[in-house]
Amino acid sequence: MKELSLNVLDLAQNSLSAGARHITIEICESEEKDSLHIRIVDDGAGMDPDFLKRVTDPFVTTRTTRPVGMGIPLIKMAAEMADGQFSIQSRKGEGTELNASFRLSHVDRMPIGDIAGTVTTLIQGAPEVDFIYIRRTDSGSFEFDTGQIRGLMEGISLREPEVLAWIREYIAQGEAGVMAQEV
Ligand SMILES: Nc1ncnc2c1ncn2[C@@H]1O[C@H](COP(=O)(O)OP(=O)(O)OP(=O)(O)O)[C@@H](O)[C@H]1O
Ligand SMILES: [Mg+2]
Repeated sequence: MKELSLNVLDLAQNSLSAGARHITIEICESEEKDSLHIRIVDDGAGMDPDFLKRVTDPFVTTRTTRPVGMGIPLIKMAAEMADGQFSIQSRKGEGTELNASFRLSHVDRMPIGDIAGTVTTLIQGAPEVDFIYIRRTDSGSFEFDTGQIRGLMEGISLREPEVLAWIREYIAQGEAGVMAQEV
């Protein structure tokens, strides 16, 4: 995986598999603090304490098509490679929260990639789920919430290609608005 956005896609897909109805993806990027932080919170089925302890091990998975699960071990490795940390909290029946931090300027820090594309892909696969995407930088924050968009769409499915294209563009513009000015 060359981009963190693909990791985020995999992790949010774990949340969907766990039956989450609300998934929050938050990305905080600070040049001042030289840090990047990714947080994913869901209200899915959660994991029991024994499973949770082992979940960063690639051989732990409930998938049945192949024996090795990679989503969580990969983000942990990506964070640790870039001087950061990874943690996961979960409660059975309540949900899961994942946190990964990175040193922004670290040579091995993977690029963030196309989060607008990731969020759009997630919505396309699960238009009934509420996705909240928050992007914070030193210059401000942008927040996207499918709950609000659904209200505006007056019954039109978020899965319609025109709607998805609009969402993607809306997120990309919102992100651009809080990114540092290039010199
Ligand atoms: N948000 C979550 N809520 C509940 N269970 C989770 C969550 N994230 C991961 N899990 C559990 O942890 C296991 C490991 O997840 P991981 O993403 O590392 O691998 P995988 O999803 O099994 O396989 P892959 O991501 O490679 O397709 C999952 O099979 C699932 O049982
Ligand atoms: Mg996974």
